[in-house]
Amino acid sequence: MAPSTSSAITLNINGEKYPLSVDHRTTLLDALRERLDLTGTKKGCDQGQCGACTVLVDGRRAVSCLQLAVAAEGREITTIEGVAEGERLHPVQQAFLDLDGYQCGYCTPGQICSAVAMIEEHAAGWPSAATDDVRPEAGPPSLTADEIRERMSGNLCRCGAYASIVQAVARAASAPARSDGRTGVAHTEETVA
Ligand code: FES
Ligand code: FES
Repeated sequence: MAPSTSSAITLNINGEKYPLSVDHRTTLLDALRERLDLTGTKKGCDQGQCGACTVLVDGRRAVSCLQLAVAAEGREITTIEGVAEGERLHPVQQAFLDLDGYQCGYCTPGQICSAVAMIEEHAAGWPSAATDDVRPEAGPPSLTADEIRERMSGNLCRCGAYASIVQAVARAASAPARSDGRTGVAHTEETVA
């Protein structure tokens, strides 16, 4: 008997369970968009280069075009549809709105998901390639424009809305923490020149 090329899996997305049968070659991105109608996650390059398909997997950002749906079973997946807290926008979403962090908006869901995790990575003290002093005792670096650009460098914007995106990320990073603890590191827009 030929080996099966599909499996019945259950994906945990935005706190809900989604049972589905998928071909083993189906990417998480295609499962979200084509099978589950979660079309907020965008397909740009489909080869891990643009960041448009960024989602959170167990709280870490991941390009969903490079992850197989079957490998995502048992993980906590958050898409742009699950970033808000009920009717209340996530501080990153609000900052993108307030500061026009987009033009056409195609890259925006990926930018926002990436920024949500990036702010948490920074608050946890993770250094970036732009960090001068990476010694643990140095603590988290200031969230300067250079730090934000480096940490968001996996998310491309063909409209070139980068200046506003950097401002929006800086504002969201200085916003008060939400009830689930997301965001809320002590940096201000003044650090962004
Ligand atoms: S569509 Fe996944 S990185 Fe471009
Ligand atoms: S807003 Fe158009 S690609 Fe970024």
